[in-house]
Amino acid sequence: MGVFPGVCVILGWLGPVMTGYQLTEGTGLYLSGDYSIAGLFPLHNLAPSSSNMPYMDACKKGKANSHGYHLIQAMRFAVEEINNGTKNPTLLPGVTLGYMSYDICNIPASLLATVDLLAQQLQGPSGEKTGGDQWPVAVIGPDSSSFTFPPASLLGSYLVPEISYEASNQLLSNKYLYPSFFRTIPSDKNQVDAMIRLLLRFNWTWIVLLGSDNSYGLQGMQTLYQQASQYGICIAYQGVIPDLTAGINKTMNNIVKNIVKVNVNTIVVFSSKTIVSRFFPIVIEQGLSGKVWIGTEDWSVATLVSNIPRINTIGTVVGIAIQNATIPGFQEFESRALSTLHSLSSKGTSVLGEKCLQSTDLYSMAVQNYSLEEYDITSAFNAYKAVYAVAHALHSALGCDSGKCQKIEVQPWQLLPLLKQVRFSVGNSPVYFDQNGDPPTGYDIVTWIWRETEWSLRIVGSYTPDMTNLTLDSDQIEWNKMYYICRNDLYQVPLSICSPECPTGYRQLQTGQHKCCFDCLACPAQTFVNNTGEITCQACEPYQWSPAQSTTCLNRTILLLAWGAPLSIALLLLLVLTLLMTFGSGVVFLLNMGTPVAKSAGGHTCLVMLLALTMATASALCQFGLPSQPACLLKQPLFSFSFTVCLACITVRSFQVVCIFKLSSKLPRAYDTWAKNYGPEVTVLVLSATILFISVVRVSRNPPQPSQDLAFYADSIVTECSNTLSVGAMIELVYLSLLSVLCFAFSYMGKDLPANYNETKFITFSLMIYMISWISFFTVYCISRDEFAMAMRVLAIVSSVLGILCGYFMPKVYIMVLRPQMNTQAHFQNCIQMYTMKKN
Ligand SMILES: *[C@@H]1O[C@H](CO)[C@@H](O)[C@H](O)[C@H]1NC(C)=O
Ligand SMILES: *[C@@H]1O[C@H](CO)[C@@H](O)[C@H](O)[C@H]1NC(C)=O
Ligand SMILES: *[C@@H]1O[C@H](CO)[C@@H](O)[C@H](O)[C@H]1NC(C)=O
Ligand SMILES: *[C@@H]1O[C@H](CO)[C@@H](O)[C@H](O)[C@H]1NC(C)=O
Ligand SMILES: *[C@@H]1O[C@H](CO)[C@@H](O)[C@H](O)[C@H]1NC(C)=O
Ligand SMILES: *[C@@H]1O[C@H](CO)[C@@H](O)[C@H](O)[C@H]1NC(C)=O
Ligand SMILES: *[C@@H]1O[C@H](CO)[C@@H](O)[C@H](O)[C@H]1NC(C)=O
Repeated sequence: MGVFPGVCVILGWLGPVMTGYQLTEGTGLYLSGDYSIAGLFPLHNLAPSSSNMPYMDACKKGKANSHGYHLIQAMRFAVEEINNGTKNPTLLPGVTLGYMSYDICNIPASLLATVDLLAQQLQGPSGEKTGGDQWPVAVIGPDSSSFTFPPASLLGSYLVPEISYEASNQLLSNKYLYPSFFRTIPSDKNQVDAMIRLLLRFNWTWIVLLGSDNSYGLQGMQTLYQQASQYGICIAYQGVIPDLTAGINKTMNNIVKNIVKVNVNTIVVFSSKTIVSRFFPIVIEQGLSGKVWIGTEDWSVATLVSNIPRINTIGTVVGIAIQNATIPGFQEFESRALSTLHSLSSKGTSVLGEKCLQSTDLYSMAVQNYSLEEYDITSAFNAYKAVYAVAHALHSALGCDSGKCQKIEVQPWQLLPLLKQVRFSVGNSPVYFDQNGDPPTGYDIVTWIWRETEWSLRIVGSYTPDMTNLTLDSDQIEWNKMYYICRNDLYQVPLSICSPECPTGYRQLQTGQHKCCFDCLACPAQTFVNNTGEITCQACEPYQWSPAQSTTCLNRTILLLAWGAPLSIALLLLLVLTLLMTFGSGVVFLLNMGTPVAKSAGGHTCLVMLLALTMATASALCQFGLPSQPACLLKQPLFSFSFTVCLACITVRSFQVVCIFKLSSKLPRAYDTWAKNYGPEVTVLVLSATILFISVVRVSRNPPQPSQDLAFYADSIVTECSNTLSVGAMIELVYLSLLSVLCFAFSYMGKDLPANYNETKFITFSLMIYMISWISFFTVYCISRDEFAMAMRVLAIVSSVLGILCGYFMPKVYIMVLRPQMNTQAHFQNCIQMYTMKKN
């Protein structure tokens, strides 16, 4: 082009006649047919001149791209198959497909080709629009996402269907911006998802993310970055591998230095192969080795990368790859290409080709005898499927299902809805498009295998997008043996984590800006953590407990005197014994009611006292089992009341004795009046009524309820009644104490009375037992609330009762049963006389 660089650009704007497409018949880029397809293929790589966007050189000046050559051959092959009816004779019977192809060697070329296509549509010959004159009904290509954005948006405005075989950028799924865009390669959204699942599969949560400085790499990197954080994967460092710019080696050196600094083992490289192929030499040069590299479909299977010298030192490569595929007959078609293209070019009249953009001819490329890599085949298969998709849409547009196609005029926009509905299979690969124009295909997971310096690929798993299902046989991956510890003859999957998982019962405390870097803290008692990776310890339920570092809570022990427990049985036996003694004393007293001992002891009052003692003993039963409402209500008042009755009787009795012997001489009238007018009975009644009143008021004002004390013990529940230590209870206690003191005082006053009447020793003894047992109980209660403390309470009750029983009643029972000679009127008279004599 030389002197007039802008000519082709201008010609492109003016229309097809001027770009001279009819003249390129012999190049292999053009085939006439009833209906035509436009193909955009990267036959050369040519860096655009950066200064002046629309300006461009002839593509032929760039480096020939063998991959693009195989892709265009796939299109030619598909078209020939459809025209021949080899694979599917019922597809488009009697209709021939044609094509016109553009060499998309850079972005300006892509733009120019698109403009040229649109110009043909708008300015094409009017009138009869079938046959060889018809402009393309659909566009196939181009390859990379960067080249695809201009045609996708421009063709979208005219609803010209476009099917790309290699543009995977997920932005192209946006149907508002690119309404007529389809593709046969899965969207990178799926690829990112597959990568995330791969990382999660190996627990690689501390990674480096690199991306090439083009839309493929940047978009992929951004999506992966967003997804990663949702799955708890931390990006330790993120770098953009520059495209050809000044200082590129310096930037790449820095990237490598940063990778070394962050100490990760797994590096995700979302890059196109040309850019990454300039990066790996730097990695090798810097000696970064033994890492795991996760590759995208674009580079992980490309020989451009695997052919870099000494690349086997970088470590293990695990990559995402387009699903392995075969196109039967394609290899033979390519090997025949040289002769067919030669005969074509000798027939053709290729003149303008030399002068303008689309100056390429396939013959000059076929001569190179490019080898057909697996990567070329999988991509070629996508181009092949794209042609078939157009053919199927055209098939329904022309109504060919009836067996004969009507060769009517078809506008590109008419094909659009039909393309959305195509559904067929090529081989065993289904072809259709979802509402975003994306295909249902998944990926293979591949790994690089080295035998010395011999490189090969191995498929180790697959990914299906509709189920987001990754299947992987990790034993098939050869982890870089030099760098990982050999355990049990198995090479371990390398770790790539910031902090190792916390032990059970520990929580994480994030130490920096990354979630993956943390310290481990033990959960304190009464909390637990049952999952690894939690950042907080959960509190146990109130009825549960846990020691420190727990993973679960344990149920608390309920402290109570269970009815069947050995301790309870022992206590119950003691209670029964006490009741029997009380009952026995009652019987003995009843039988000897008329005798002097019984009379001096109080006569019928003794029966009341024994009944009160029985009630007091019975009150101990409220201490057993789980506290119930009635038990809580009865427990304390019953004991206070019955014990008060008992004490009151003893007090009045002592008072009477003291009065008779000591006061009757001084205040004879007063005592007589008191004694004769039921004084003793009334006094007992008043004293008892007072305590009853106190108890009733206290219980009704503040009724005790069954309650549980969770605070006293960490691992147990103390069952008790609420309001045990209320003001009312204190008043009761004080009242009882005062009565005890009064009782003691009267009995003390009678210390020098005759032995039959002198009860000082016994009453002191009873009261001592009573005091000691209750003081012991309260002491124990202060430090403990377990079963023994509860047993202490029962013991205190029983001892109080036994104290009175043994101190007051037993000596009298003894005399009545075993010393009847002391239980006579004479003996009593004797004693009184001796006392009176001694006194005088
Ligand atoms: C198509 O038919 C032609 C002529 O019969 C034959 O040479 C060619 O190999 C066939 N191509 C395919 C792809 O079947
Ligand atoms: C990943 O972690 C999970 C649980 O943390 C563990 O069960 C699994 O074995 C780990 N996988 C690998 C490959 O280490
Ligand atoms: C960048 O590094 C590559 C590989 O080491 C080397 O071939 C190339 O000459 C370097 N380029 C510059 C500009 O230094
Ligand atoms: C092309 O290369 C293949 C092997 O790569 C060889 O078998 C074949 O003969 C070559 N063809 C030509 C025309 O050179
Ligand atoms: C892909 O499939 C072909 C044919 O089935 C097979 O020869 C080739 O080994 C497969 N590629 C891989 C990497 O397994
Ligand atoms: C994933 O794929 C495997 C094998 O194809 C299958 O057995 C499994 O059920 C699939 N899992 C899910 C969640 O679909
Ligand atoms: C962890 O504890 C929570 C809350 O108690 C419970 O819902 C969950 O099922 C527990 N998980 C496991 C794995 O035990």
